[in-house]
Amino acid sequence: MKILITGASRGIGLAEAKALGEENELFLVATSIASFKDESIKKHHLFGYDLRKISEIKKFVDELKTKTDSLDVLINNVGMIVLKKFKDMSLDEINDQVDLNLKSHMILTKMLLPLLEKSNKAHIVFMSSMAAKSGIIGESVYAATKAGISKFADILRKEMRGKAKVSIIHSWGVNTFGSTSADLLKPEDIADIVKYIISKDFVVESIDVGHINQWRGGNAPWSP
Ligand SMILES: NC(=O)c1ccc[n+]([C@@H]2O[C@H](COP(=O)([O-])OP(=O)(O)OC[C@H]3O[C@@H](n4cnc5c(N)ncnc54)[C@H](OP(=O)(O)O)[C@@H]3O)[C@@H](O)[C@H]2O)c1
Repeated sequence: MKILITGASRGIGLAEAKALGEENELFLVATSIASFKDESIKKHHLFGYDLRKISEIKKFVDELKTKTDSLDVLINNVGMIVLKKFKDMSLDEINDQVDLNLKSHMILTKMLLPLLEKSNKAHIVFMSSMAAKSGIIGESVYAATKAGISKFADILRKEMRGKAKVSIIHSWGVNTFGSTSADLLKPEDIADIVKYIISKDFVVESIDVGHINQWRGGNAPWSP
């Protein structure tokens, strides 16, 4: 299959690329081609663009189209979090999270629909977060972007009925930041889920996942 993964140079996106890389042709994007350090994925198509900017998304899609005119799976994984109380967050920090976590997924999906419509197994996966459903102090803007993308994906699924599957992953903490805590999922856990859901004929509409010991509440240990 031809699979595009955003934010694939590290963290969850890299784990997905490694899990899917042997059997599929991958199109991987991060901020810069230099971000791709892992040797095992360098045989795939690598792109470097700042997906916060619509002009850069357009350039990315133009370059992508020189390499393929169809796609089977789009994994909208890219995202960022600024962990601060809203009163302490700068305007740029608000804007960047909305642009990357919400707008870039919509714009990229819109621009790639013609490529996905050429596939008889088209599937769009959105990496949301349990922040969309919980309410953790310090995550106001991040949670809003994740709740927004989940609702967007729910309606897109209905609009794409019969043409493409749409899945949403809501995850609690995943250790992409070198934590020594044992109470987090591993990036490979999310990659396993993605591998499973894109291999099935039925649609996994939404999945909620977290470590068995995951802290669940409002004022988290990591809240500012
Ligand atoms: N980690 C968690 O606990 C957790 C939990 C729930 C949901 N999620 C979601 O899962 C997704 C992946 O998270 P992660 O923890 O794996 O992230 P991460 O480790 O911070 O990796 C982010 C990836 O996105 C790329 N990226 C960042 N800003 C970009 C931009 N402006 N344009 C293009 N690419 C950009 C990075 O590329 P560079 O290397 O070039 O910077 C990198 O490949 C996100 O949507 C996140 O919200 C994460």
